[in-house]
Amino acid sequence: MRKKHILSIRDLDKKDIEYYLKLAEKYENYFSMDKKSKILATLFFEPSTRTNLSFQAAAKRLGVDTLNWNVQFSSTQKGESFEDTVKIVSNYADILVIRHALEGAARFASEVQDKPVINAGDGANQHPTQTLLDLYTIWKNKRTIEGLNITLLGDLKYARAMKSLVYGIAMFGANLTLISPAGLEMDKWIIEEVKQKFSVNITQQNNIDLSNTDVLYLCRIQKERFSDPYEAEKVQKEFRISLDYLRKAKEDIIIMHPLPKIDEVPKEVDKLKNAVYFSQAKNGVPVRMAIISDLLNMNDE
Ligand code: NCD
Repeated sequence: MRKKHILSIRDLDKKDIEYYLKLAEKYENYFSMDKKSKILATLFFEPSTRTNLSFQAAAKRLGVDTLNWNVQFSSTQKGESFEDTVKIVSNYADILVIRHALEGAARFASEVQDKPVINAGDGANQHPTQTLLDLYTIWKNKRTIEGLNITLLGDLKYARAMKSLVYGIAMFGANLTLISPAGLEMDKWIIEEVKQKFSVNITQQNNIDLSNTDVLYLCRIQKERFSDPYEAEKVQKEFRISLDYLRKAKEDIIIMHPLPKIDEVPKEVDKLKNAVYFSQAKNGVPVRMAIISDLLNMNDE
């Protein structure tokens, strides 16, 4: 039996249907036995370029297939709950990569179904795989992390990349300077927790002084997390790293950014050999390959 089209149930008779039911059962048994071919699903409820594409590139490089889900064309638009969506997609994939505006969304997803979940950013909370690729970039450039002077500069209140990175850097024993526009300081409890856990030096300031900095890590103002967009735009305009600051910096300073960059980095900085943010983004692929392959148990044969 081989049909050319299936356009109406009227096109099938009972025998055709029985044929399909038996064939379906055969496929179901077959793919539950198949341990080799794996599928990764990316569920991005918030915009993304690098994280989404580098996860997909990493999966493909590992021979893992991808399911691309697009919030705009999904049943979220019909009112389906996050929980239901996650449960459904977990039936189609072996691992889920989730980005959501709500803090704790990825943890919640990990609790309502059985497949491994990777948090690709939950609101202003955490972005752990970004931190791994950031540490990889620092380590690749400086061959060590311990003892470096690392400055985090930007919106430290809402940027999840910063709020993850501060733990990673402290864990490796670097000295931290936190610089932010007034009102966008990192939460006190995070600083206290990091200090207590890793006994590192953390200096907080509002003025930009890079004279001792080995690694400058910038991020944009996280406009979408402000209750007043006007306030965000005002800070964004005032907050820009000028070439003057960089002239006073160490010759081998590296400048990192999770991207996207908006107005905070002048275009001319791109040309400096110190600016490593494009290669930093490229590092997302091998680092995410390491993470995916580990969570899918692909490394211990
Ligand atoms: C970051 C994010 O989404 O948190 N982007 C990224 O993943 N590279 C940083 C940002 O949006 O500012």
